[in-house]
Amino acid sequence: MSLLRCVTKLTRAIGTSPQFANQSTGTVPLSACFNFSNLKRNENTHQTFSSSGTLRNASSQPNDRETSENRPHSPRLKSNDFVEESSPRHNPPTSRQKISEATFDGNRSRVVLHVGTERYEFPAVWLRDNCQCERCFHGGSSSRVLNWERFDVDRVKVTRVSLLEGGQSLEVMWSEADGEKDEAHRSVYDLGWLLSRNFKEENTQRYLKEWYRPQPIVWGVEKFGEVLREFSFDDVLRDDAVLRQWIEALIAYGIVMIKGAPLTENECRRLADRVGFIRKTHYGEEFIVKAKEGTSNVAYLSTPLQMHTDLPYYDYKPGCNLLHCLVQSTNPIGGENLIADGFYVAEQLRQFHPDEFRLLSETLVDWSDLGADEAGTFHSIYRAPVICVGRDGRLERINHSVPQRDSHFSVPIDRVEPWYRAMQRFVNILHREAVSFKTTPGDILTFSNVRMVHGRTGYTDTAGNTRHIVGAYLDWDEIYSKLRILKATSERDREQQ
Ligand code: OGA
Ligand code: ZN
Ligand code: ZN
Repeated sequence: MSLLRCVTKLTRAIGTSPQFANQSTGTVPLSACFNFSNLKRNENTHQTFSSSGTLRNASSQPNDRETSENRPHSPRLKSNDFVEESSPRHNPPTSRQKISEATFDGNRSRVVLHVGTERYEFPAVWLRDNCQCERCFHGGSSSRVLNWERFDVDRVKVTRVSLLEGGQSLEVMWSEADGEKDEAHRSVYDLGWLLSRNFKEENTQRYLKEWYRPQPIVWGVEKFGEVLREFSFDDVLRDDAVLRQWIEALIAYGIVMIKGAPLTENECRRLADRVGFIRKTHYGEEFIVKAKEGTSNVAYLSTPLQMHTDLPYYDYKPGCNLLHCLVQSTNPIGGENLIADGFYVAEQLRQFHPDEFRLLSETLVDWSDLGADEAGTFHSIYRAPVICVGRDGRLERINHSVPQRDSHFSVPIDRVEPWYRAMQRFVNILHREAVSFKTTPGDILTFSNVRMVHGRTGYTDTAGNTRHIVGAYLDWDEIYSKLRILKATSERDREQQ
């Protein structure tokens, strides 16, 4: 819902009602980190669903990558075609692993552990900060409660380290007195807990990939037939394994098709509730995309929607789009979705046109939306580049919307024309790398709104055929959170088997 529009508010008719798929062998269980004992398990079996759908290269311009043109794009992969990608792994602590030696290196203020042939170092200050005793850590809320007003880095002093339980845990004694008591403060750390937090680069990378955010896999137009996964709506709703596969595919490829949703206006909500909850915007929770007579709103015209990301004028832009097709235009031409991997396009620019990449990633653009809806009147402005790059150089977010790019362009005048040239290049590559396909009734097209750039071709409604799409958003925080819960639950279940 990116374009200026008035949105029909939905009345809720119904009450509330590939690499990653097999990952976990050989990983440090998260249960070594958190208490997930309250999590429920869905026992339903996993099923896959495949469908037909027409797919073609959307490029309106000559494509310099011959391969995808006119190629029959399918065989779409089924959800069980995921292949685990090799990733940096860390050997989990097994019951046989134990600390053979623990020493304190006073010069560097680090505790040094020997486990098998490996040597691990832990800064004393980190160990003190992460003491797991009940004065320092509240287990029920998995929260540090150590008094940081009294925390003094210079006064953190280890007086003794020793092994407990035959080397399965580490005891550290501190010079500081334990509150009112005379005894010194004492910390005990489980070996598995320590190893899953060890500071070796491979371990921190493993943790970030497995438990923070798996890496996206960027794709160009000719790969679309391979990356587009499909899942059945019923399976996603019933089966946790399928829910997880949908989320993992969404993270990896940025787009996934859900098939077979019932034809009611409530299904986006049911899908969103399976993950977390709908992300509300000033257009409400769900929105209906339909052509309306006499609207001044471009999304409600049946004319083409240029490729865009929705709502770039939000600082916290909705993360993921759900577009549910209830009625598709039956005219053979029109009503298709266009979509391209904006991260791939940005990487092409970074590689082949670095100056233009710099312009698009460093120039703050004014995005805006002005109007009124049932939530009231609004005037949103947010300044952000078209290509947003994180501190680590990774792509974080793409912003592009012709209607919502403000005529205010708050940049030095010399920047203006070069920026337009760079933008022109971006749009050319975007169209070169875009695919086009037509959803059918019951499809919910799900895609990342921070990564994918999408559009729609124009269509013609007739008396008996009015195109009808329902949209809603999910936020990535909730999606990642759900994925972690699903992973932890399945790990715990496996451990209990
Ligand atoms: C939108 C949009 C796609 C469609 O409303 O922002 O992208 O298929 N719609 O109508
Ligand atoms: Zn849109
Ligand atoms: Zn403590």
